[in-house]
Amino acid sequence: MAYCTIAPVMKMLNLIWYKMLISVSLASGEPTGTARLMAPSDLRVSKHWPGVILSWNSNVREEMEMNDVKYVLTYTFLNSTKEVKERCSETEKKISLNLYPGFVAKVKTQLLLSGTRNIIMESNWTEFIYTTPVYIQNLSCVIYNISNLNCTWDIKTEAPEDVQYFLSYRHNKRDYECQLHFKNINKKNTGCHFKEVYFIPPSKIKLNISVKDLRNNLGTHTYYKAFIPQRIEKLNPPNNVSIALENGSIRISWKHPPNIGSSKRSCFIYQVKIRDLKGKMVFLEVRCPSLTRRHHVALS
Ligand SMILES: *[C@@H]1O[C@H](CO)[C@@H](O)[C@H](O)[C@H]1NC(C)=O
Ligand SMILES: *[C@@H]1O[C@H](CO)[C@@H](O)[C@H](O)[C@H]1NC(C)=O
Ligand SMILES: *[C@@H]1O[C@H](CO)[C@@H](O)[C@H](O)[C@H]1NC(C)=O
Ligand SMILES: *[C@@H]1O[C@H](CO)[C@@H](O)[C@H](O)[C@H]1NC(C)=O
Ligand SMILES: *[C@@H]1O[C@H](CO)[C@@H](O)[C@H](O)[C@H]1NC(C)=O
Ligand SMILES: *[C@@H]1O[C@H](CO)[C@@H](O)[C@H](O)[C@H]1NC(C)=O
Ligand SMILES: *[C@@H]1O[C@H](CO)[C@@H](O)[C@H](O)[C@H]1NC(C)=O
Ligand SMILES: *[C@@H]1O[C@H](CO)[C@@H](O)[C@H](O)[C@H]1NC(C)=O
Repeated sequence: MAYCTIAPVMKMLNLIWYKMLISVSLASGEPTGTARLMAPSDLRVSKHWPGVILSWNSNVREEMEMNDVKYVLTYTFLNSTKEVKERCSETEKKISLNLYPGFVAKVKTQLLLSGTRNIIMESNWTEFIYTTPVYIQNLSCVIYNISNLNCTWDIKTEAPEDVQYFLSYRHNKRDYECQLHFKNINKKNTGCHFKEVYFIPPSKIKLNISVKDLRNNLGTHTYYKAFIPQRIEKLNPPNNVSIALENGSIRISWKHPPNIGSSKRSCFIYQVKIRDLKGKMVFLEVRCPSLTRRHHVALS
């Protein structure tokens, strides 16, 4: 029972202590917001598939931990405008790199009055830059005819010569090694073809491209990128197209192409091109149809 009452008292003392601190720093002419709360230091990364873990030393003095300590973290990927801003209680953050060559991160500490959103103090920002070599670009993948997957990439000119690229992916808790690598004229792998593989949306396809040094087995890099299967599906043409003549009109009907589940969430747009005997073109666009499509074209 006793500690239940002690805690609030200590918190109050703590608040008084801050007030004293702030007034002391006001007296010395420092801005109150940044007074005496040391910024995080020793920002560092450790590799952690599929990216890195960024961690830092908090530098929050024990007596300050009576209040809520939060870290504001922002990071911008190099060669991109993608910026992420977060607030967390831990002194680390997992960052997925995809194919970005690194990031610029900034962290600051905030002290919040316990159980509230009132910021008592903020530290200065600490900045950190992480770079990692990325040798490939323009990675793209396509699923076609239900059970085939092709992925291709370009190798950057600055890539070292003695490395080779290997693709594998994880989907629905299973790993798949590349079945057939495409090669460029320098015998470097620049893509991969898979057949008779099946996709279970919405489970993601998580690509792993590993770069191996052919001369020594040290220094492998792995690049990661994930796709939602439906987003990269190239649809088959519609099925069972049939044409019938009816009272001076032609009726054209077809069925949805078989697909990996794309039809469940999306609207298909069909385009119909008709050329008459004189070479005149009629062009139609049909949106979001039901399973079987009938279309009437008046014959002129
Ligand atoms: C915060 O940054 C300012 C300006 O660089 C500096 O004068 C001040 O000492 C810093 N405060 C702390 C607590 O490090
Ligand atoms: C960012 O892009 C520029 C030009 O596109 C390139 O010169 C530079 O090396 C890139 N930076 C990184 C870290 O890859
Ligand atoms: C590959 O990527 C580079 C840089 O992102 C771009 O300049 C180039 O046009 C791309 N090439 C193709 C074929 O998409
Ligand atoms: C699509 O796959 C089916 C069955 O796997 C095959 O019979 C057919 O030839 C394929 N079509 C194309 C255009 O590749
Ligand atoms: C995928 O790769 C195979 C094997 O090279 C090729 O025959 C096929 O045309 C490619 N398909 C697509 C849609 O890229
Ligand atoms: C990525 O692929 C390489 C080569 O197949 C493999 O050694 C590595 O364990 C894979 N990494 C992950 C995280 O799946
Ligand atoms: C296409 O039409 C024929 C005849 O009407 C039918 O036997 C076949 O099952 C149809 N195929 C599909 C994929 O619906
Ligand atoms: C053709 O037109 C006639 C008269 O307008 C109508 O009775 C008949 O049902 C139509 N046939 C079809 C297949 O639409």
